[in-house]
Amino acid sequence: MSDTHTLVSRRQFCAGACQVASCATLATLVTACGGDGSPTSPGGGGPGTPLSVLPSQFANSRVQVPVAGTPLASIGGVARVESTAGLFLISRISDTGFTAIDGVCTHEGCTITGATSTEYVCPCHGSRYNRNGQVQEGPARSSLRQYAATFANDVVTIAL
Ligand code: FES
Repeated sequence: MSDTHTLVSRRQFCAGACQVASCATLATLVTACGGDGSPTSPGGGGPGTPLSVLPSQFANSRVQVPVAGTPLASIGGVARVESTAGLFLISRISDTGFTAIDGVCTHEGCTITGATSTEYVCPCHGSRYNRNGQVQEGPARSSLRQYAATFANDVVTIAL
């Protein structure tokens, strides 16, 4: 009886030890997966605000984008344009000044869809570019191509 009692005790001990080990492992995994409430997005600064997508017209190597009633109607506004000529990011930097850059990330080709107050943010791996397309944070290393942009009659024209 003493041997049986000892065997049961060992089983109970092993079961208890396994439960403790499982709980410790689970706690480690939860912490590693961001269970402590810390941000887990690439780049550590979040994806930014989703950019509005604006309609455009493409003809004669120019993309034209009406700005009335869009985020580009205000200085500081930014938007994304999907045209047959490509994807572009446009920002309004003054009454009549705009920047226009490629909307495809130079890292692995993802469409850039987010922006903060000063940067565009790629959703795939968190690369960040300023309004002129220069890399502010990798993994991207190359700048986005910038295009000449003019403004007249409430229309931004991107020259390709
Ligand atoms: S494709 Fe944009 S950061 Fe990787």
